[in-house]
Amino acid sequence: MDFKQIVSHCKEYGFIFQSSEIYDGLAATYDYGPNGVELKNNIKQYWWKSMVQMHDNIVGLDAAILMHPKTWKASGHVDAFNDPLIDNKDSNKRYRADVLIEDYIAKIEAKNKKDVDKARKKFDDFDEKMFRETNGRIKERQAKIDAAAKRLADAMTTENMDDLKAQIEEYEIACPVSGSKTWTEVRQFNLMFSTQLGNIAGDEGKLYLRPETAQGIFVNFLNVQKSTRQKLPFGIAQIGKAFRNEIVARQFIFRMKEFEQMEMQFFIQPGTEMKWFEYWKEARMKWHQAIGSPAEKLKFHDHDNLAHYANAATDIEFEFPFGFKELEGIHSRTDFDLKSHEELSGKKLQYFDPEKNENYVPYVLETSIGCDRMFLSQISNSLVEETVPDADGKDSTRIVMKLHPAIAPVKCAILPLLKNKEELTKVAKQVFDKLKLSFNCQYDDKDAIGRRYRRQDAIGTPYCITIDFDTLEDQSVTVRDRDTLNQIRLNIDELHTFIYAKTDMSSLF
Ligand code: GAP
Repeated sequence: MDFKQIVSHCKEYGFIFQSSEIYDGLAATYDYGPNGVELKNNIKQYWWKSMVQMHDNIVGLDAAILMHPKTWKASGHVDAFNDPLIDNKDSNKRYRADVLIEDYIAKIEAKNKKDVDKARKKFDDFDEKMFRETNGRIKERQAKIDAAAKRLADAMTTENMDDLKAQIEEYEIACPVSGSKTWTEVRQFNLMFSTQLGNIAGDEGKLYLRPETAQGIFVNFLNVQKSTRQKLPFGIAQIGKAFRNEIVARQFIFRMKEFEQMEMQFFIQPGTEMKWFEYWKEARMKWHQAIGSPAEKLKFHDHDNLAHYANAATDIEFEFPFGFKELEGIHSRTDFDLKSHEELSGKKLQYFDPEKNENYVPYVLETSIGCDRMFLSQISNSLVEETVPDADGKDSTRIVMKLHPAIAPVKCAILPLLKNKEELTKVAKQVFDKLKLSFNCQYDDKDAIGRRYRRQDAIGTPYCITIDFDTLEDQSVTVRDRDTLNQIRLNIDELHTFIYAKTDMSSLF
């Protein structure tokens, strides 16, 4: 399904609403509806279980969103957490200069993809790699893409705002709203939201909403290590809100001003970071595939230009409906953060290594994934429109969300065949009352059974349980499988074991 259809499906079926919609919304902020919050909680649970509960050397934390302002000086966010912005003089619209250039590169890439798809249809034994390496037009465009990507990366690392402006002019990039090419200079714009302490005026009382959860982990490093007696290597994991004053357009929950991160800082001996970098790359990739994200929709993208505190960094990219984009970051952050906090706070943040009999500042390997991006990856990967036989055996189309059962918002729907037969609804309610103790279930008796199936398909419910007249005779019910449409008869007493085996998260580990 295309991106527009995904967005409207999310609204229609109670997954995601525009924030403050009755006031025409607030850009790049969204609310999670009744089905959305269930799916999001399940994603968080999947992450928490696999990162914290499945590792005896990783522990959890829930730090405050507001932190001492010096935190953000030490972390580098006050001085360097900037986006390069440019305004179009005719539309008065503001854009990220780097994103305008990335979009320009994506357009060239799209042309190449179109040519590749055309050729694929023409030739039976099509070899994409060879085609890309030998086709003149594609090679020429690829050279353009590589040169533009390198020049963009260089300008971003050296913070060369003049060159970003020069690129926009050279590529003749026009404002998507006005079509005009009259631009202002490019300026750096800090992404942190600030707020004010009530009892202190001026800059002294200036606070920031955290732009990443990681700093709450760094400043608590010793508290956690001492209270849990963890030995290196060990990790601290946290799920929580982060805030960035992003300038964005039409990216739905991919880039938001208020979002949620699931981050883990793994504290290690200096010198072992490349071993752990490789370990976490593999572990995180497996985590994505275990929940059903296809291998071909995931790839690593190593950073060409490393941040000053990192000595290795890669992104796990996912193929969203608008192309491959960052879903998760894996960064070797050295001892930069702990050392900066030591310097600015004057407090030691060191580990006593009993084997080496010495104190040192550990190195840190970070895994950081946006919960909302994970949500979008799961929705966009699983939502499909397909043709299936209806009750009369005729072809009909359905929209189905083929989420992994472990993260589906509703695990099973309990449906009495007919609404007005009290003997059926009574048993259905008994089944519902029993199953709801263990699973998120829905009871639905409105409309014909076929329409009720479609409603459950659209929100990804893996099993529909129908109570019919045979149930009254032999206590058996029909269980319909969302994906195969197969129907089996089970005894009511067998339902709990069946649903548990099919939907519990333990099958993922
Ligand atoms: N502590 C490291 C850190 O914050 P990052 O690459 O800036 O690194 C990590 O962010 C992850 O957070 C990203 O991979 C992405 O999934 C998510 N993320 C970042 N900015 C976001 C935004 N504005 N909206 C939604 N998710 C975002």
